[in-house]
Amino acid sequence: MAEIVLDAHLPQTIREAFAHIGTVTAPTVDDLKVMVLVEAASETLYKVTAQGTDNAAVIELLHHNAVEEMKHAHRASQAIAALGGGDFPPPSAQDNPYLKAGSFPFSEVTPEALRKLSAGEFGGEALYEGWAASLDNAEAAALLRANGREETDHGNRLLQAADLLERADA
Ligand SMILES: [Fe+2]
Ligand SMILES: [Fe+2]
Repeated sequence: MAEIVLDAHLPQTIREAFAHIGTVTAPTVDDLKVMVLVEAASETLYKVTAQGTDNAAVIELLHHNAVEEMKHAHRASQAIAALGGGDFPPPSAQDNPYLKAGSFPFSEVTPEALRKLSAGEFGGEALYEGWAASLDNAEAAALLRANGREETDHGNRLLQAADLLERADA
C-alpha cells in the first residue's frame, strides 16, 4: 500500500495525534482515521518497548499488547466503514505517517514506568467507552467498545509485567 499523506488539518506527528485523540469526546471519521494510524503505530511502539528488557515473560506480555493494538487499528477501520467513511485500512509500519520520524519505546521497562503506562491504557478504555456512547451507529459503537475492553487487558498486562520485574529483582 502507498504511503498515507495526512490532510493538513489532521495531527502531523504521533505525539500530536496522541494529544488530539485525548481531547475528542465524539469522534468524526477523521478522528477515527487518526486512531487507526495511532493504533497501528502502537504495535511497533510496543515492540520497540519490549527491546528494553531481556525478561522473556515481560517481552511476551508487551508483544501480546502489540498484536492487539494492530487488531484495534483494524476495528477502528471497520468502524469508519460502518459509519460510511469508506475504506481506510491500517498501514504497515513503513507506510504509517506517524512512524515517519522514527519509532520510540512507550516507556522504559521498569516497574514504575510500566505502572505509569498502565494508567494510559486504563484511560484508553474510558476514552473508547465515551466515543462508543457518542455514536448512534450500533456496529461502530460495538467495535470501539471491544477495543476499550482490551485496553484494560493491556493495563493489567503492564501491571503484571511490573510485578514480574520486581520479583526478578528481589
Ligand atoms: Fe489500542
Ligand atoms: Fe493498548
